[in-house]
Amino acid sequence: MSATTASERPAAPFQTESFRLARPQLVGPDEPESPFPIKLAGPVQKGFGRGGKDLGCPTANLPDEATEAMTVVAKTGVYYGYAQVIPPAERMGEFEKGELAVLPMVMSLGWNPFYDNKKMTAEIHIMHGFKGDFYGIEMRAIVLGYIRPELNYTSRDALIADIETDKQVALRCLERPGYHTYAEDKHFNL
Ligand SMILES: Cc1cc2nc3c(=O)[nH]c(=O)nc-3n(C[C@H](O)[C@H](O)[C@H](O)COP(=O)(O)O)c2cc1C
Repeated sequence: MSATTASERPAAPFQTESFRLARPQLVGPDEPESPFPIKLAGPVQKGFGRGGKDLGCPTANLPDEATEAMTVVAKTGVYYGYAQVIPPAERMGEFEKGELAVLPMVMSLGWNPFYDNKKMTAEIHIMHGFKGDFYGIEMRAIVLGYIRPELNYTSRDALIADIETDKQVALRCLERPGYHTYAEDKHFNL
C-alpha cells in the first residue's frame, strides 16, 4: 500500500450490527510489537473539515510523507497512540498549557469510504478539547497499535458511535505500562 489515487482505492466492507456488538474493549499485546512504534511528524494540513462539523470529532491531517511512513503496516484502519502539537514561538500564545502536552490520540488511516474520498489520508484526533485549530503547526505522533479495519457506514450515527468506541478502546489500551511509557519518548518535545 503506497498509494493515494482513486484507481487503487480498495472497497471497504460495511459495518454490521454483529461487528459493533463484538467489539473488544482492549486490543493488542501488553506492549507494542513490530512494526510499532511508528513515529510520525509534519505540519498539519487542511482536510475537508467534516470531522469536527459532521462527526463531532475534529481531526488533524498529516502530510503525505507521514502517510507514507505508515505504509509499513500495510493496512488501512484505526490506530492508537500519542500525539503532541509543537507551535513555533510566535504562535505559542494561541495555545493553553494543557494543549501542548503529549496526549492520547486515535488515528484514521485510509480512504474514508463513508465520504468517498479520492485520496488516502492519515488523520489524527487528539483526545483533548482544543479551543482553536492548528493548521500549519508541527504535529508529532507515535503510533502504538491497531484497533480495527476501516469500514463503510450506512449512517453517520453508526460512524460516530464507532469513533466513540475507538476512543474508549485507545484510552484503555494506553493505560498499560508498556504503552504509557511512550508518552515520555524523545520524539516528543518534553
Ligand atoms: C477514530 C476514527 C475512526 C474513523 N473511522 C472511519 C471509518 O471506519 N470509515 C470512514 O469512512 N471514516 C472513518 N473516519 C474518518 C472520518 O470519515 C473523517 O475523519 C472525516 O471524513 C473527516 O475528515 P475531514 O476533516 O478531512 O473532512 C474515522 C475517523 C476517526 C478519527
